[in-house]
Amino acid sequence: MTNRWTPESWKTRPGLHMPADYPDARALQAVEDELRALPPLVFAGEARRLKDRLAAVEAGDAFLLQGGDCAESFKEFSTDNIRDTFRLMLQMAVVLTFAGRKPVVKVGRIAGQFAKPRSAPIETIDGVTLPSYRGDNINGSAFTPEERTPDPQRLLRAYNQSASTLNLLRAFAGGGYADLYNIHDQGVGTQYRELADKIAEALAFMEAVGVTPETHPDLSRVEVFTSHEALLLNVESALTRLDGATGEWFDTSAHMLWIGERTRQLDGAHVEFMRGIKNPIGVKCGPSMEPDDLLPLIDALNPDNTPGRLTLIGRFGHDKVHDRLPRLMKAVKAHGKRVIWSIDPMHGNTLMAQSGYKTRPFDRIIGEEGVHPGGVHLEMTGQNVTECIGGAQAVTEDDLSSRYHTHCDPRLNADQALELAFLIAERLKTGRLARSAAA
Ligand code: PEP
Ligand code: CO
Repeated sequence: MTNRWTPESWKTRPGLHMPADYPDARALQAVEDELRALPPLVFAGEARRLKDRLAAVEAGDAFLLQGGDCAESFKEFSTDNIRDTFRLMLQMAVVLTFAGRKPVVKVGRIAGQFAKPRSAPIETIDGVTLPSYRGDNINGSAFTPEERTPDPQRLLRAYNQSASTLNLLRAFAGGGYADLYNIHDQGVGTQYRELADKIAEALAFMEAVGVTPETHPDLSRVEVFTSHEALLLNVESALTRLDGATGEWFDTSAHMLWIGERTRQLDGAHVEFMRGIKNPIGVKCGPSMEPDDLLPLIDALNPDNTPGRLTLIGRFGHDKVHDRLPRLMKAVKAHGKRVIWSIDPMHGNTLMAQSGYKTRPFDRIIGEEGVHPGGVHLEMTGQNVTECIGGAQAVTEDDLSSRYHTHCDPRLNADQALELAFLIAERLKTGRLARSAAA
């Protein structure tokens, strides 16, 4: 892979899972040109800052929490939904920070996570065949020819929705909503309230010794970053800009981008595009990945072995993770590769309920947390949905239909996600205590 990279060089490689069936190629081209002229959603300096934060994760000094919708949608776009997901991330981060005594790097699957790879390009219902739904920025989910036809205007709508979402996130993060002093107003559940009490006590102590939001403004601010799967390379390259100060290219559609399990071919378009942008990036690693697949990918994507640049997101499934992950981890370590390992316990654990709903059992999801990674990657929502079964509230297969709102894969609801955070926190705490006992 020694060819010269440009934001368009991916076009010379085979690119999977991108729609080729826009009825009007000129209309698509016009939208791509429009995107090229629109302002960046994030700035190079922010992406660089995330890379620094992730370098701390790689060094074992911080934990990565990445999560949000499987697919954002136009219909579910609302202030309340964004606020609730943001609040859930903060609550989970508080739980993890308290147990692990390490900062938690918060990265949302948000403000751009629309496009989905699909197992089949077409869908047939009652003898009628239409293109599959590929995400709201491509086509609509309703099973009609009009909705399923790709419409380039949807790309602009997704850009605008991402900009508004990011605007609100920035306001929440800097405007006092994230204030630790409000911690009691932010959460429910006995376990969470007990933790909030302890944090309030610690804050009161710090105030008594002179550490207040006035002297330390960071007490009332948080850093939240955005991420999505870099699937539609026409959009990603249209939003890729040269950072004048450094001469480096950044994909300004999000702070972090990742390559999905289905598009990680070494000679494919997605790897070609991602190797040239300087954002922190991720790669999904599924159960079929062998060390011989992974090592060349790492060399292509992070040739300088920069810590924080590359996060490997394992999504093996509860029955394979304990075999596959240590094998890959060992190979990567033996070759001195500086990468972060994060666990996605969602994508290897999907099954079809009797009722026909795609779901994920909570105990399979937590079954993956026995391994000890530097982070987690979750599909979750602040809403009280019933998409994954199990958890303390014991969502059953029969409950799935009552609040099943996802546009793609089943998400953990707020209670399930917070419960998972407490379980991960236990493991972080055990690890921390074991390390200090050994020291
Ligand atoms: C996803 O993260 O939504 C996804 C499609 O995952 P994967 O690439 O791991 O299948
Ligand atoms: Co998904």
